[in-house]
Amino acid sequence: MPKVVLIPGDGIGPEITKSVKRVFEAAEIDIEWIECQAGLTAHEDLSTPLPEETIEAIEQHRIALKGPLTTPVGSGFRSVNVALRQKFDLYSNIRPARSLPHIDTPFRDVDLVIFRENTQGLYIGEERWVDQEEHAESIAVVTRKASERILRAAFRYARENNRKKVTVVHKANILKLTSGLFLEIGEEVSGEFPDIQFDDKIVDNMAMQMVMNPHQFDLIVTTNLFGDILSDLASGLVGGLGVTGAANIGDDAAMFEAVHGSAPDIAGQNKANPIALLFSGLMMLEYLDYNDTADQIRNAIYKALENPENRTPDLGGAGTTDSFTDRIIRNL
Ligand code: NAI
Ligand code: MG
Repeated sequence: MPKVVLIPGDGIGPEITKSVKRVFEAAEIDIEWIECQAGLTAHEDLSTPLPEETIEAIEQHRIALKGPLTTPVGSGFRSVNVALRQKFDLYSNIRPARSLPHIDTPFRDVDLVIFRENTQGLYIGEERWVDQEEHAESIAVVTRKASERILRAAFRYARENNRKKVTVVHKANILKLTSGLFLEIGEEVSGEFPDIQFDDKIVDNMAMQMVMNPHQFDLIVTTNLFGDILSDLASGLVGGLGVTGAANIGDDAAMFEAVHGSAPDIAGQNKANPIALLFSGLMMLEYLDYNDTADQIRNAIYKALENPENRTPDLGGAGTTDSFTDRIIRNL
């Protein structure tokens, strides 16, 4: 039986992780959950946002399902999400955005996957004051090694999942060295995959193109910050942050989490949409080769969306996290 570290997290985290546990139990999936703490809740309860036991549990079991973790804005502890991705070298952040049946959005049949480089770029935490309160600096790092592995992972995924085109997103006109290196390696790696169409876009134009005509894109691969922003944008194309899951994959560990954060504005109100974390859970089941069970749960989620009333408020419905979860379980 696979053992999976489960981190309920902050804000809406405990509500949506409960939903995933209930659905997985109803689907009779033989996973043993090892529950661990991290984030603001851990910081308050255990006076550290990333307890040693949590790190040890992930080291031991190499697979985690994580609720969102709050990161204080402006000051306070550094992002535990970023720390975990770096600690376990989870270099591919894979974020699919796919239209859902029955959900009305400006576009039909959006089907994108974003590969976000997950260990460097502007997220390495190298920030400093040059002059307190007057002048701040932040360092972005792009290495050949990290770029090659995320770009290869993206092209390989495209090939294995029958995706025809890879778009490398960059800002190499301005960030000539960092973004320029990423683009250059993208061009090089594309040479190893002649069966996949290669394309590149400058990130600002990319944002416009994605909202005007998302159908022109298939798989997108980019550096950390751009991937963070464009994946929220992509979520917006298919119904919002409540419906997009994600996987953080390294060579010998994986952590699954939603694209969204802890949603403090709706926390504790039984309003959160559990679909995003459920989809992350389905990516985990596929990682564990439980493909049939993942399909079965996905269909149960789709069916639960049929009646608009049942949906959670972010999708215009009157359902709650719990009642929507009940619907999914009934459809299994
Ligand atoms: P957020 O993603 O938490 O929320 C943005 C908006 O989307 C809010 O209006 C929220 O109510 C809504 N939303 C998000 N998830 C939803 C769901 N499942 N169902 C219904 N509505 C949902 O982003 P925000 O407000 O910028 O960040 C809040 C906190 O989350 C911050 O501390 C941030 O650092 C953290 N965060 C953590 C992430 C992670 O754990 N991987 C990712 C993004 C943010
Ligand atoms: Mg984000």
